[in-house]
Amino acid sequence: MADRVLITGVAGFIGSNLLDFLIKKTDWQIDGIDNLTTGSKANIEHVIGNPRFTFIENDLVTIQSLKKYKYVFHLAALPRIQPSFELINEHITHNVLRAGHLIEIMIRENYFPRIIYSGSSAIYGTPSLIPTPEEEKIDCLSPYAFQKYEVEKYLELLSTRFPIDYVTLRYFNPYGPRSFNPANPFNAYSSVVGIFLNRRKNNQPLLVTGDGSQQRDFIHVADLAKANYLAAVHEGKLNTAFNIGFGSTMSVLELAKLISPDFSFIPKREGEAEITFADNSKARRVLGWEPEHQLDSYLKGELQ
Ligand SMILES: NC(=O)c1ccc[n+]([C@@H]2O[C@H](COP(=O)([O-])OP(=O)(O)OC[C@H]3O[C@@H](n4cnc5c(N)ncnc54)[C@H](O)[C@@H]3O)[C@@H](O)[C@H]2O)c1
Repeated sequence: MADRVLITGVAGFIGSNLLDFLIKKTDWQIDGIDNLTTGSKANIEHVIGNPRFTFIENDLVTIQSLKKYKYVFHLAALPRIQPSFELINEHITHNVLRAGHLIEIMIRENYFPRIIYSGSSAIYGTPSLIPTPEEEKIDCLSPYAFQKYEVEKYLELLSTRFPIDYVTLRYFNPYGPRSFNPANPFNAYSSVVGIFLNRRKNNQPLLVTGDGSQQRDFIHVADLAKANYLAAVHEGKLNTAFNIGFGSTMSVLELAKLISPDFSFIPKREGEAEITFADNSKARRVLGWEPEHQLDSYLKGELQ
């Protein structure tokens, strides 16, 4: 019988792309849960009706058991830096307590499916090492970054007492299909590639924050999906974190210029990093992962 797995946050940008990847790459039965706060049913419409996929439209706090799952891909979160400064309890609830709910079920059932946790490069803040390896000091500049780190740390600490089997994937700056969801109340803070492409499509000027000199390590969502898959099927426990970034960097101004000549500047935002640049050698070495997708080719396709 095929393995059964769970994706939390399946109707979001990365969750829906992970679903597509796993449908193609595996024979797994996939349950996906989403409460549709920032995600959208439109992202998974094309998979609904596929007998290998069951969509549960609900908050993940309704999950009572994880016993049927071999792997749990935990992506559900409120993943935006700026709103995390304002809607404090809501962000703690969805970014920290909901992960706690999943971990408590594992402990109560004494059953530990591998949990592949979506972490973030936001936890490096202002890195001293560039490219940045996993051993870099933690420097959370926002509640969001702190919450992403808190869950990583819970997994690490609790695994000293319980046989928790986890992998944290620290994503850098994802782009790709569905990154911009017009129905998402926080879409002004979506991934910058998606925002810029959407503004160009609507003949609006691109809005570059600050002077645009901040640099980002852009990584295609299909490469993130592949990292999730490889982390799941890796033989033996990993119980560690991996950087999942392309391993190169580009300024936001350079990106804007590639997308449209029509741009202007808006004030810099608190809590956002000056540079993200992954040292991804650990994921290459241990998981056998390597990024395949080039930003240039993606933009070419989108700008045609
Ligand atoms: N997109 C990025 O720039 C980025 C960067 C680094 C890490 N991440 C992490 O990747 C993960 C996925 O992010 P994304 O960009 O796909 O965001 P997204 O907002 O598109 O997806 C998150 C999904 O989780 C759902 N959700 C939130 N709370 C829930 C709950 N309690 N129960 C059920 N569903 C819930 C939302 O409705 C949404 O569909 C997040 O954990 C995020 O922190 C994202």
